[in-house]
Amino acid sequence: MARENLSVWTSISFWRRSAAWVTGFATILLIWLTFDTMGQISMGTDTDLQKRITRRIPAPTVINYHIDYKMSEKRGHEVPIIGKEEPFFGKQWTPKEAAALLHLGKLTSQAKNCMNCHTLLGNGAYYAPDLTKAWLDPNWKALGYFGKKTKEEGIAEFLQHPEKYASHNRKMPNLGITAEEAKGLVAFLKHMSSIDTNGFPRGFSKTVDQFKAGGTYAH
Ligand code: HEC
Repeated sequence: MARENLSVWTSISFWRRSAAWVTGFATILLIWLTFDTMGQISMGTDTDLQKRITRRIPAPTVINYHIDYKMSEKRGHEVPIIGKEEPFFGKQWTPKEAAALLHLGKLTSQAKNCMNCHTLLGNGAYYAPDLTKAWLDPNWKALGYFGKKTKEEGIAEFLQHPEKYASHNRKMPNLGITAEEAKGLVAFLKHMSSIDTNGFPRGFSKTVDQFKAGGTYAH
């Protein structure tokens, strides 16, 4: 039997060479993707914020700025826009103070297991509203910040006494959160809302539009 009559598809060396090339290519692609992702997910600095350099995950001092959520026609979803400086709990926070407050908020969210009911950045449960963009929820203003002067004070008040301000059929239990922990949690929520999540959670703008149109703000 003449060898040259055999099809290339039956050649063992062809498949061996193909496997080597595919493995090599995939390895290079994965290394490149890893470095690309590291760049995308590393946290920005306070200097980035001051220089108005847009980072996917801004520095903790983003709590010193107003955060908006605007439709980007180019990207087809909303993106966080970091605006003018605004006081947070009545002051501007230094990088060290802001990082410590955010850290307290993260630890509290873990200790009180918010994820058991809520979703944060795609992780958690769907029993209660998604918290990824909760800071931007127009409902806080509509509810008059529960009698407090600012949004941050209003959310802190809600977190310490959720049973007093229930606005949904499902109620959030009182988790015994202290005033300091509540401040940290609000910083955590504000920072999270400033993260560019490629438009997730998807339903957010729709519920906000319904709300603006006079409907009830249902999660
Ligand atoms: C046992 C379940 C449960 C746990 C645990 C829980 N929540 Fe809630 N939470 C709810 C429910 C239910 C609601 C909706 C009720 C309401 O708004 O009155 C809610 C509402 C909220 C809201 C208002 C969201 C909005 O946009 O209207 C915030 C903010 C919030 N929770 C933060 C937290 C944080 C932070 C933690 C962790 C420290 C936490 N929750 C833990 C059940 C829970």
